[in-house]
Amino acid sequence: MRDINEMLVRRGYLWQSFEIYGGMAGFVDYGPLGNGLRRSLENLWREYFVINERAIEIDTPTIGIEDVFIASGHASSFTDVAIECESCGKIFRADHYIKEKLGIETEETAEFVREVLSTYNLKCECGGRFKDPENFNLMFSTTIGPGKGKPGYLRPETAQGIFINFKRIADYFRDKLPFGVCQIGRAYRNEISPRQGVIRLREFNQAELEYFTHPGNKKHPLFKKYNNLKIPLVDKNDVEHNITLREAVEKGIIAHELLAYFIGKTADFLIRAGIKKELLRFRQHKDDERAHYAVDCWDAEAKTSYGWIEIVGIADRGDYDLTRHKKYSKEDLSIFISYDNPIIRKVKKVIPKMSELGPTFRGKAKKIANALENYSGEIGESIELDVDGERIKVERKFFDVVETEEKIFGERIVPHVIEPSFGLDRITYAILEHSFDKDVVDGEERYVLRLKRWMAPVQVAVLPLLSKEPFTSKAEEIVQILKNSGFFTERDDSGSIGRRYRRYDEIGTPFCVTIDHQTFEDSTVTIRDRDTTEQVRVKIDELPNILRSLLVSERDIKEFGERFR
Ligand code: GLY
Repeated sequence: MRDINEMLVRRGYLWQSFEIYGGMAGFVDYGPLGNGLRRSLENLWREYFVINERAIEIDTPTIGIEDVFIASGHASSFTDVAIECESCGKIFRADHYIKEKLGIETEETAEFVREVLSTYNLKCECGGRFKDPENFNLMFSTTIGPGKGKPGYLRPETAQGIFINFKRIADYFRDKLPFGVCQIGRAYRNEISPRQGVIRLREFNQAELEYFTHPGNKKHPLFKKYNNLKIPLVDKNDVEHNITLREAVEKGIIAHELLAYFIGKTADFLIRAGIKKELLRFRQHKDDERAHYAVDCWDAEAKTSYGWIEIVGIADRGDYDLTRHKKYSKEDLSIFISYDNPIIRKVKKVIPKMSELGPTFRGKAKKIANALENYSGEIGESIELDVDGERIKVERKFFDVVETEEKIFGERIVPHVIEPSFGLDRITYAILEHSFDKDVVDGEERYVLRLKRWMAPVQVAVLPLLSKEPFTSKAEEIVQILKNSGFFTERDDSGSIGRRYRRYDEIGTPFCVTIDHQTFEDSTVTIRDRDTTEQVRVKIDELPNILRSLLVSERDIKEFGERFR
């Protein structure tokens, strides 16, 4: 961990935010390479979860008005329990402190924490006593506008910006389920005492998909692609299952096919991005661990030097969010679903008898007749109606009942939501750890970052053998050719060629292109592979196409040119 963290800072992957002022826990700066890697990750994510789904991507504000978070439940339920030392004033997140000091998992309620503190007589690290535990809301609050302003919060998840646009989104999809809506962007949580670097951030990057489906159709037509995928599944009772996703659905370990589909697709994506399959598992949330909106949730967890860390949460949020926003905004967030074939239903209809109503109810007779015509409840010997706020009992003699057939063309439903939510910072970090390696080349130890080729922030390094003319001009000419072809390319003239290879191995650049004496004789260059250190000689004219083939595949460079030693 020390080696990789030192490298990440020195080479420009991740930096401590506000470093010259002493830094602040829970924030990270992406240097040029970290930013490039995260960008590649985001693009791959789009390929999987936007382009290859019936899905769209939107972008909504990172500040939300209070109404949104009252409705979503975050204003009241998005809390952790904090404990503060009476003597030194240090504040800890209670469940983390208790786990660290006593090795026990704690329910996240102030009552439970209070009981644990007194049962175990747990004190602060300084020996001081803790004050009474308190619920601490994790949202950063702010005010919008001058003066007292309107209360607002930095969003704790991108998802709410999607739910509150549901009417417009459903309209965009012409009310045809299922459909997905994505958002990639910043989210904020005022963590109580973040102490794990990039693993627990107060400002972080999410990529979320909200997949809206009919409550009765939690399936996906492409599930067969992941049917037979085996990936460790740890259920809510901590039992590990090594069975296929299909078997997990059949045995009820995963609640339904749609959750299993997104578990499979998430595993596929993470492995493509560079997470090692043997360091990946899915773990179901325990009953007391789930977020307030979730009916079931599975986390993708990657093993790192911090232990198993959650990198993706895949939750079945049911109709929680839409129902809550429907109630609080008073907008209809249901959609009309047309049946393939209309259903024929026998219905009893009430037919008012005007000849009887008129003489008895006089001025009110017309309104009562209307109410009777629209009545759809139980029909007994009398019917009770509300007419202009007045409760009126209408006896059987004032109406007839006839049985007719009615065609039902569809129904209004509130869709359910399955949400794969990706923590991009944690995934980026886990990829870096899983790719970091040490080996020995020509008797010399080297660090090598075995990133997936296409993910690398610098895809090609162009290295003139000598840092003088005509090598440097030729190198620049080739850099321009490669940049024009869309590759992230750098040129490096400084130091011995061996040192330069090591430098690019360390940051994960998959290919170095070297200009040597022979370049000026036959317009060729060499390509060197980061992982095998093999080199082949190829024509400059063919370089962009060869690099493209190599970057998007795991093909061996020896297929593309004459071996060079
Ligand atoms: N939207 C899920 C989460 O932020 O955890």
